[in-house]
Order: sequence, then structure tokens, then C-alpha cells
Amino acid sequence: MIRIRLKKGIKKVGWVNPWIYRNEILDIPPHEEGEICDVFDFSNNYVGRGYLNERSFITVRLLSHSPEKIDGTFFTKKIVKALKKRKKFKGAFRLVHSEADGMPGVVADLFGKHLVVQFNTLGMEKMKDKILNAFEEVLDLDGIFEKSEGRARKREGLEKSVGWIRGEGEELIPFKFDGVEYFSDTLGQKTGFFLDQRFNAKALRNFAHGIVLDAFSYTGNFSINAFKGGADKVISIDRSQRAGKIYEEILKANNVKSGYEIVIGNAFDELRKFEREGRSFDLIILDPPAFAKSRKELSAALRGYKEINLRAMKILKNGGFLATASCSAALDRESFLNVVKEAAFDVHKELRIVYFGIQSYDHPVLIGMKESEYLKFFIFEVEAIS
Ligand SMILES: C[S@@+](CC[C@H](N)C(=O)[O-])C[C@H]1O[C@@H](n2cnc3c(N)ncnc32)[C@H](O)[C@@H]1O
Repeated sequence: MIRIRLKKGIKKVGWVNPWIYRNEILDIPPHEEGEICDVFDFSNNYVGRGYLNERSFITVRLLSHSPEKIDGTFFTKKIVKALKKRKKFKGAFRLVHSEADGMPGVVADLFGKHLVVQFNTLGMEKMKDKILNAFEEVLDLDGIFEKSEGRARKREGLEKSVGWIRGEGEELIPFKFDGVEYFSDTLGQKTGFFLDQRFNAKALRNFAHGIVLDAFSYTGNFSINAFKGGADKVISIDRSQRAGKIYEEILKANNVKSGYEIVIGNAFDELRKFEREGRSFDLIILDPPAFAKSRKELSAALRGYKEINLRAMKILKNGGFLATASCSAALDRESFLNVVKEAAFDVHKELRIVYFGIQSYDHPVLIGMKESEYLKFFIFEVEAIS
């Protein structure tokens, strides 16, 4: 077994953050990337067992506090535990949320009897078969779709891998929760559906009325919940034509025949255009993609967040609601709130927080790992300062 020793002063005993960075390690013996290793502190106290990839700045991801065998049984136990924690969730939920469920590098969303999985690290990629077998052992599944793609995988030196790998299923996987029929798009974004916004989308029903604008709408989760809450009209903007088409399918499945408008375009431009046209709204939702994927992108991201929030405030009716989200892990809650405050200041609006949420609890936040709290979601009541 590869032995890793940490530098003097690096404390990981009773670790709450399972990441070990390259600059915390004293030296690394010859090894194969992705291999299992044992980690010791400078005084040779046992820290834990994990897997190693020197290509990544997060060089070791810990899997266990003890030198237990990392085999199929290990993963079966982790999945059983994760499932037990989510016994309140029906229809669809995130079953494995990487580090927060003790399986760093693995994400698994369950949609009815179909599982969509992502393997984001080389260590977990190497154990893929064992992990897939464990999922099949614990769950009664019709199919497993792999959706391993994106930046994280590239950083680990891995190619993308997308398709049905066990059993089979449709391109659009149907599922239902909170009284809404949905589809998860196997060819869409992330695992096909943003399950993390589930509680926030349901909460939004309490604020929905009149004319609603859902910007960055993807397949319309907030839009359909606005209808559920009693909105008369919902305008949904997304630049993805495919997402717009799937939203139409969701509308049909939920028997919504009128009151919707789908705009395929750039939300920044559309918000400006609505202002020029003098259109106004009772509720505006802003749920953009992560503008800051890393700390380096933070200042450009702040400009983007400020711009859309400012534009939205300008076209909100006096006393209307602004539901605004950021899923940038690099941007903390306080800084996000500050940027919205700056936008309000510039357009002479007074804001009151009437709701605050984070990701739903099937995406738990590890208290020692601030990166795991990525989603911020506020609803503000917005009034003109007279
Ligand atoms: C975080 S997702 C929105 C998720 C959605 N609210 C939901 O709950 O399902 C961000 C969406 O923004 C879209 N998008 C990204 N940049 C855009 C832009 N400039 N204009 C319009 N849509 C954009 C993406 O296609 C994606 O669907």
C-alpha cells in the first residue's frame, strides 16, 4: 500500500474535509495514478485511506478514517447509508453527493428506476465497475446512464464518457414529484435535471402571481412551479433550444395549454429588450449558470451577477418579487448578497429578504468543506425608494 506522509503542522485527524492538497504532502512514493493509499501525519499518526492522483492539486481524496478494504462491500455500505438518509424523498433525488456521502468524485441522481451517474475522478473511474455493481445490488433499477463529462474530469486526465452503461432507458427519463410531471434529459446539462433547486422551486409557488419572467429557465422547473402557484403568464428565457423543447413536453405532461411564452435567446439581451419595450413583471427568477467556476473568474462573475440583477430590478413592478440564485461555489453567500445590494443601490430600490434557501438536503453541505455549499437562493421584495 502506498504511504503518504503530510508536512509538519498539517492536521487532518478527525478530518471534516476529505481533501489533501499537493502542497500539504511531504513526499509521494512511486505509484500508479488513481491508486489507493494510506495517509499519515508528520508524526506518523494514521489519518485515513483514500485515492491518489498527482495530476490534480487535490492530490488525495480520503474515503475512510480506518485502513478498511475499499471493495464492493465498502461501496454497498455507503450507498445503503445514503439511501437511508433520503427516505423522505420520493420520485427523484440525488442519492450520492460526492464527498458529503463519503464517495468523493461520484454523483448519482435517481429518477424513478433510472440512475444517472458521474465519475469525476480517476480514482473512482478505476473502481467504476465495483461501484456500478453496488448500485445494482442496493437498488431495483431498469438502467444506469453515465454522464461523465466536464472540466473536473478533464483536470483528472479523463475523456468524457456518456451513454447507457447498464440496462436501458429513454433519452428523456420521466419522473414526478411535488405534483409535477418532469423529464430529465440524458443529453442535457449536469445529470439532466437540477434537483438541487427542488425546495426553492416549491417555495417559489408562494410568491407566484400575475406575470412571471423565468430567466435562465433550462427545462422550466421554476416556470412550471410558477404556474402551480397561480401565475397567469410565464415567460421563460434560455439560450438552449433543446431545453425549450423539453419544457414544452413538460407543459404538455402537466396539461398547461396556455399562458406560456418560450424565448430562445441571450437573457442579458432579452432583459435589456424588455426594458426598452416597457414590459414589466410581478416576479422575476434569475438562475444563471455558475458565472465563476473558480476564484480567478470571480471579478468578471460579479459584474455578470450585478448586471442581470440590476436589469431585472428595472423591469419589476413596484413591490414585485425577485428570486435570484447563484450556483458559483467560489462566491460566498455574503458576497452574493452584496452584489445584489449594489445593484439595488444603483437603481434606487429597497430590498427585503422574504425567503432564503440553499441546495435541497439530498445535496448535503459538509460543514468543513465550504466548496460543498454552492447554491444561494434569495427571494426579495423590491420597492422603489421614493
Ligand atoms: C443553472 S441552469 C438553470 C436551471 C433551471 N432554473 C432549473 O431549475 O432547471 C442555467 C441555464 O442558463 C442557460 N444559459 C446560460 N447562459 C445563458 C444566457 N446568456 N442566456 C440565456 N440562457 C443562458 C443554460 O442553458 C442553462 O439552462
